[in-house]
Amino acid sequence: MSVKGKTIVVTGAASGIGAQTARVLMAGGATVVAVDRNEPAAGTAARYIKVDLSEPVSIRKAVQAVGKGIDGLCNIAGLPPTQGRVHVLKVNFLGLREFTEAVLPNFNPGASIVNLASLAGIGWPESSAAIRALIALRDFDAVGALCDSHHVDDARSYFFSKEALIVWTMQNRWSWRERGIRMNLVSPGPVQTPILQDFLKTLGARAEEDMRVMDRPGTPQDIAPLVAFLCSDGSAWIRGTNIACDGGMGSHVLLNMTGLA
Ligand code: NAI
Repeated sequence: MSVKGKTIVVTGAASGIGAQTARVLMAGGATVVAVDRNEPAAGTAARYIKVDLSEPVSIRKAVQAVGKGIDGLCNIAGLPPTQGRVHVLKVNFLGLREFTEAVLPNFNPGASIVNLASLAGIGWPESSAAIRALIALRDFDAVGALCDSHHVDDARSYFFSKEALIVWTMQNRWSWRERGIRMNLVSPGPVQTPILQDFLKTLGARAEEDMRVMDRPGTPQDIAPLVAFLCSDGSAWIRGTNIACDGGMGSHVLLNMTGLA
């Protein structure tokens, strides 16, 4: 399951899961292009491109800097709900999609896209109207109005951003099939990174309950190898799939929801 010789773009490579993914890919022989608003630590990546994923102009400049010959894109940059609904939806969904679509012409045949969603997106089947509206939205300046019409507050915005990301990825399972390009998702449960405290603050009692049933939170080391596998040729027939990596929390939530626990 090698990534040797591949050129892989990793957003969010300056911290947490993105930084660990970049390190695992580099250790596997890939050339990593880090794309982040912050510069990663030395040795994390072969190249760094600065971007603000909440800004279409910045995204366009970053795409130009990325250049051609890309074999993989790991969309890992993301914001927690404490950053406010407009910013969260811009970075976690609109900016991610804008960057991905703009960089797609630079992909080699057989390239892989991996989007970091979350266990927080598990409720997507219950929000189809709002998700449809967000996926139809292209204007970054209209996010606040969309949130108002669909009753999305700051706390809900993180869940909503990941629900939309899951649905958009599934919808595009075959969009670039003739070029052999696939897109999948990884959905972690709570992971020990700088943003974990933000989640716990927003989710309150529910997060405390989650942490009580779990033996431990995840670590970036638990998530990065799965992302790297999805970049390798061994995952070529996995398409439009959302893979949980959550210590069993996803099964726990689903079984409790259906009364089958
Ligand atoms: P982190 O805070 O350690 O890293 C996030 C990275 O995104 C940082 O390097 C940051 O600079 C970058 N970023 C944020 N806003 C940006 C912007 N506007 N433009 C460019 N880069 C920007 O967070 P972590 O935990 O590593 O999260 C990575 C991904 O995993 C996120 O998408 C998050 O939603 C997801 N996730 C995290 C979980 C957790 O418990 N930590 C659980 C489930 C999913």
